Amino acid sequence: MPKWNVYVTNEIPQPALDMLAEHCDLEVNREGKPLPKSTLLQKIQGRDAVLCLLTDQIDAEVLRAANQAKIFANYAVGYNNIDISAATAQGIMISNTPGVLTDTTAEMAWTLLFSVARRVVESDNYTRMGKYEGWGPMLFLGQDIFNKTVGIIGPGRIGLSFAKRAKAFDMKVLYTGKKANPQFEHETGGQYVSLEKLLQDSDYISIHTPLLPETFHLIGEKEFKQMKKTAILINTSRGPVVDELALVKALETGEIWGAGLDVYEWEPKLAEGLSKLDNVTLCPHIASATIETRTKMGTIAAANIIAAMKGELPPNCLNPEVYKSSTMQKT
Ligand code: DGY
Repeated sequence: MPKWNVYVTNEIPQPALDMLAEHCDLEVNREGKPLPKSTLLQKIQGRDAVLCLLTDQIDAEVLRAANQAKIFANYAVGYNNIDISAATAQGIMISNTPGVLTDTTAEMAWTLLFSVARRVVESDNYTRMGKYEGWGPMLFLGQDIFNKTVGIIGPGRIGLSFAKRAKAFDMKVLYTGKKANPQFEHETGGQYVSLEKLLQDSDYISIHTPLLPETFHLIGEKEFKQMKKTAILINTSRGPVVDELALVKALETGEIWGAGLDVYEWEPKLAEGLSKLDNVTLCPHIASATIETRTKMGTIAAANIIAAMKGELPPNCLNPEVYKSSTMQKT
């Protein structure tokens, strides 16, 4: 079997690179930042496979430039950065990394929720700046988490993992999505409600839906008005699910109490005014960023490429029809 020529668009944990290097000739972008499109277009020519990141926009032009590619293995569970139908039309398989980052991302959503509700970042800054002069009964009053109602938008894998953890805090769980999910209800005791009811009744709201045309700006001005004044919004999914300018307004005017964000509408740029607010915790898209999980994401992406190289269906192929039609052509 001839060795494949593989391009990796950014540095990823070494075990994944070692795994690929055992089977393939490898080139890795070591610049430590996403490639400009013009470089990407040039680098992927003549490659059998590309391991790409969510920061690479894999559109029809890029796919056309990858004139020999059999697979693009995305180093992420989300794949809104890839034009899957263009890839399918061009006979290129696309894979992602589902499952391994579920609990890690759910933990980060909780981390953000605790951080905002208990004002951890604000009080850390205050303490570091030497402003702490003694215990005060009114110092940094936050909100309890236990016994409150948490609303989950998107009861998929990560939403489920987030909801399961709510049990430990004796919380009531509401959820909304395309339809009721009996498994979710069985595992979490959650109650299926409309988006409107969830927004009205939840103390805390966590978004776990993928970015799709129908989830773009799912939460905007109208939705903020429906939330409690004490509500906290957490987003670890994709930035454009929330209208970020409307969020800034809701946070500035006290329409909601706070927000915890790991993702942004114009990532890595922040909406005007967001970074000036004290009632928001801002993280740089690190929900899956643990050593264990990022390593597993890498080895899964590598395994998808190696399977394709061996003529097997990559385990996390998102367009298996490409594989089927290629095997039918061979027989
Ligand atoms: C994903 O995988 O989609 C996350 O956003 C990054 O790990």
